[in-house]
Amino acid sequence: MRTPFVAGNWKMNKTGEEARLLVSELLPALQPITTVERAICPPFPYLLPLANMLKGSGIGLGAQNMHWEASGAFTGEVAPAMVAEFCQYVILGHSERRAYFHETDEMVNKKVKAALAIGLTPIMCVGETLSENEAGLTAEVVTRQTRLGLAGISAEEVSRVVIAYEPVWAIGTGKAATAQQAQDVHARIIRPVLREMFGETAAQAMRIQYGGSVNSKNAAELFAMPDIDGALVGGASLKAPEFIAIVQAAAEAKK
Ligand code: 13P
Repeated sequence: MRTPFVAGNWKMNKTGEEARLLVSELLPALQPITTVERAICPPFPYLLPLANMLKGSGIGLGAQNMHWEASGAFTGEVAPAMVAEFCQYVILGHSERRAYFHETDEMVNKKVKAALAIGLTPIMCVGETLSENEAGLTAEVVTRQTRLGLAGISAEEVSRVVIAYEPVWAIGTGKAATAQQAQDVHARIIRPVLREMFGETAAQAMRIQYGGSVNSKNAAELFAMPDIDGALVGGASLKAPEFIAIVQAAAEAKK
């Protein structure tokens, strides 16, 4: 049994005051839902204040990116140990980082290794673009991103990695993958790659989240699928009632 995991990727949204308000709304509702691993990933400047608010709540905190080097002359970057001071999780290789900031599979791999080395749980994002999807390249792209992103990691270490399958065409479009589409990619593409690379035990232990226009209306159907182990939620994680309903749907579907 894999513990379902729902994380909110706030992306570049909210003022500091709005961030604290949202967490104060989430806390009482999410704290009791202990059968679901839940986390929020706010912008860097809010990690310290929100870490203080979340202390002892059982709700995790994650960053949305980090550098792989431990320290040095990398203006504007944040090191793994800096993230680990406040966070348990880090989102890596999000399609927006790949598309707008030219992150490659090799860079994502360095970041995943650095996250594991410092004790963070990496949420490694994979997913095909609309044109890749239409060209029938989904399996090829997702397989390559998974393989290269996890290259050189041991089976023991890799079981801590969370994969987020986020088809780029479903992100922020209101057009989520169908539950069956996501289930197929998780069960027929990603998990077989994990099995081949790390063996059956690790492949079965690893969580594969779905991300892309997840909301309170489609969450239950998605979570009903056996290989959808939770969600990485963007827009809907910015509204307390929506995010709470998604976490509740995970608790209900996976009990
Ligand atoms: P939306 O839920 O807004 O589509 O974003 C998904 C996402 O990119 C989460 O990382």
